[in-house]
Amino acid sequence: SHYLPIADRLIAWQKQHGRHDLPWQNTHDPYAIWVSEIMLQQTQVAAVIGYYQKFMQRFPSIPSLAAASQDDVMQYWSGLGYYSRARNLHKAAQQVMNSHAGEFPRDFEAIQALPGIGRSTAAAISSFAFGLPQPIMDGNVKRVFARYFLIEGWPGLPKVEKQLWQIAETMQPQAEMGTYAQALMDLGATVCVRSRPRCATCPLQEDCAALLADRVNELPASKPK
Ligand code: ADE
Ligand code: SF4
Repeated sequence: SHYLPIADRLIAWQKQHGRHDLPWQNTHDPYAIWVSEIMLQQTQVAAVIGYYQKFMQRFPSIPSLAAASQDDVMQYWSGLGYYSRARNLHKAAQQVMNSHAGEFPRDFEAIQALPGIGRSTAAAISSFAFGLPQPIMDGNVKRVFARYFLIEGWPGLPKVEKQLWQIAETMQPQAEMGTYAQALMDLGATVCVRSRPRCATCPLQEDCAALLADRVNELPASKPK
């Protein structure tokens, strides 16, 4: 089409309208980004901020987290929920001490091998900390792509998820990876929201397939009963 590639539009939108002042932004410390991404896996940004700041004050580095007792770590996670996240984070910090000399690995496979880090979390850390061109795929990104590309079917289905990952790989830019990843997250969180998306302010509105087909509210499809 005659429009800019979606990555270019998203990056430009992020610079103008995205979030820039969250406490885990403006750093390339993989540990700081890792902790934030684990907390954000199942918890909203607003609820994470306070926990994140206290956690990072108490455990400012991989060695300090690895050396802490499990009770101490759990105390700082208390109230955030999904406690296996904290146990995995603690265990992974100890693995980084033992297998990577205390330095967070830069290798994408090694990152994914750590407990609690799946492909999308590994990609977020890789983009934000190291500028690697790995696509992310969380609930927000699935919704944006399902609408923009008019992907039918519930995104939890393996077949649909695979299709979404393939699209994400195709769309992945090779520069400004962190800004692009944050753009997708922020667009999904603030514009392409589940209910009443703000398409009139969206940088993808000109060629969004769901909007053109007037099917925004049907996508993504919900879980089959
Ligand atoms: N959700 C997951 N990662 C995030 C991030 N870096 N910023 C905002 N929301 C997120
Ligand atoms: Fe989402 Fe609307 Fe933007 Fe399409 S135009 S990506 S439905 S906000």
